[in-house]
Amino acid sequence: MEASRIALPIGTALDRFIKNNQDQFQYASGELSQLLRDIALASKVVNREINKAGLIDIMGAMGSQNSTGEQQQKLDVLANIRFTRALSKGGEVCALISEETESFVDLNNEGNYVIAIDPLDGSSNIDVNVSIGTIFSIYRRKSKVGEPINEQDILQTGEDQVAAGYILYGSSTMLVYTTGHGVNGFTYEPTLGEYVLSHPDMTMPENGKIYSINEGSANSFSPAVNDYLKFCKDNNYTARYIGSLVADFHRNMLKGGIYIYPATAKDPHGKLRLMYECNALSFIAEQAGGIASNGKGRIMEIKPRDLHQRTPFYVGSVKMVEKAIGFVK
Ligand code: AHG
Ligand code: MN
Ligand code: MN
Repeated sequence: MEASRIALPIGTALDRFIKNNQDQFQYASGELSQLLRDIALASKVVNREINKAGLIDIMGAMGSQNSTGEQQQKLDVLANIRFTRALSKGGEVCALISEETESFVDLNNEGNYVIAIDPLDGSSNIDVNVSIGTIFSIYRRKSKVGEPINEQDILQTGEDQVAAGYILYGSSTMLVYTTGHGVNGFTYEPTLGEYVLSHPDMTMPENGKIYSINEGSANSFSPAVNDYLKFCKDNNYTARYIGSLVADFHRNMLKGGIYIYPATAKDPHGKLRLMYECNALSFIAEQAGGIASNGKGRIMEIKPRDLHQRTPFYVGSVKMVEKAIGFVK
């Protein structure tokens, strides 16, 4: 945060916070602010539906597969519909990339932004009442308004993000985002129907003791990753793995830790998707003082070739990620 800016107090409503910080953004026309509000609104609707899971028929599998051949859950599809609807109605977004859609959606409007979204992250946790999330990355459109959306608009590198964030549907619901001026977290107050500032200027501890990885797949990891896991145990680190990337990332950002989804024998390029999972969390990690790597280099410098491209992912506290990379590089 810039020194001249008066910090808003805890309890400030998200709308007010967005408005107050609008001039930090170089194209301060109010469009990005409106886009963030659209996302917040859609997330409230999704939150309401998630809270009712178990009471209404929205649990379980759809019987269909998503863009990368994974089973779609009913809530994956529902969340995708809610976010797509809010973003297309808003008019600020001209193209949408989603985990749930094979190719990008051209919204045929004059919007100046492109969004990449994982509408519901942590699908395997929906039916068991464990934290899940939403992840989003926002880019400026590169083509001129009126021209057709092209590859340059869609396949932008993480460094081009102008904003990114996530919603965590956990013991409380939170929206955490950055526009490149630090990271701020807002907690949803259900009786008011508002997100309020609860975690101003979030920073990730430089070091930590938590490691998060699906160790059940250890036989499928490289010897170097297994050597690092041995190092974690030899140093009495704590293992924590929810299986919802947003929740694992959020905990590690608050407490200090590392999240790893490495290349495996089954997924030689890793499992997580660069454009709507890793880039957003990398931007937030870096803005909070952490780092994110694919094991060789910075995630946000990877030039995507495909919307649904996967990447190995090492993210978290600087010292921990650097240590892990020292093993695998
Ligand atoms: P999604 O539900 O959007 O497909 O993402 C699931 C991801 C991520 O949230 C989580 O960290 C990871 O998959 C868990 O994978 P494993 O079950 O292989 O550990
Ligand atoms: Mn996901
Ligand atoms: Mn998902």
